[in-house]
Amino acid sequence: MSARTVIAGNWKMNMTPSEAKQFIGELAPMVAGKNACDIVLCVPYVDIPTAVEAARGTNIHIGAENVHFEAKGAFTGEVSTAMLCELGCEYVIIGHSERRQYFGETDTTVNLRTKAALAAGLKVILCLGEVKEQRLAGITDEVVAMQTKLDLADIDEDALKNVIIAYEPVWAIGTGLTATPEQADETCGVIRKTVAEIYSKKAADAMTIQYGGSMNDKNAAELLAKKNVNGGLIGGASLVPEKFTAIVDAANA
Ligand code: 13P
Repeated sequence: MSARTVIAGNWKMNMTPSEAKQFIGELAPMVAGKNACDIVLCVPYVDIPTAVEAARGTNIHIGAENVHFEAKGAFTGEVSTAMLCELGCEYVIIGHSERRQYFGETDTTVNLRTKAALAAGLKVILCLGEVKEQRLAGITDEVVAMQTKLDLADIDEDALKNVIIAYEPVWAIGTGLTATPEQADETCGVIRKTVAEIYSKKAADAMTIQYGGSMNDKNAAELLAKKNVNGGLIGGASLVPEKFTAIVDAANA
């Protein structure tokens, strides 16, 4: 089974609910029928009800940008899997480098969050990737292999069908610096090889591995043409309907 291409937007801390409604209203006709890929928008928690409503009956799926691993309790500011599911949220980003960098997220908490999300029936977009110093030191392969192993610890092969890995080199996020298509292909390939080692070649071949980091309307086609790149996780360019549509078009070409 070959991997499904998934084009996902990560809005980060952008768009109010009313802006989300307007954006999805504009985007939906632009991407209608472009079904060679799955289309996902991961949005701030408060936008989810509006986004789910606006996307109803379209080919756009809605996700969150994080979720807590405990079912309920004294975790001020956090949101549970049940809360997301009740709103009709289908996907959730876990382990984004901004969570790791600014909010103390570790491979241990990423693994806990991933397990909780999968148990609740959510599809997980699991983010990992090296920082600039690690790439310069020549240890990118070791870093992404280690993250893959730790973040997927104790997760059954059967549950992997609901896991997408987003390879996001931290130095390429929001910087305008993009990994070359060759770098993206090579490192996504290392992640796939690691999944094959932990699980099986079958699981590795079926896994969607996205590239993220300054992917845009100009460079998407080249990146998506690479064998090991099965889609994109897009920040800045996912905030502009024309740019996001161009990336969906590249995945449908
Ligand atoms: P940019 O596309 O803005 O570089 O962000 C990438 C990203 O972090 C997606 O999760």
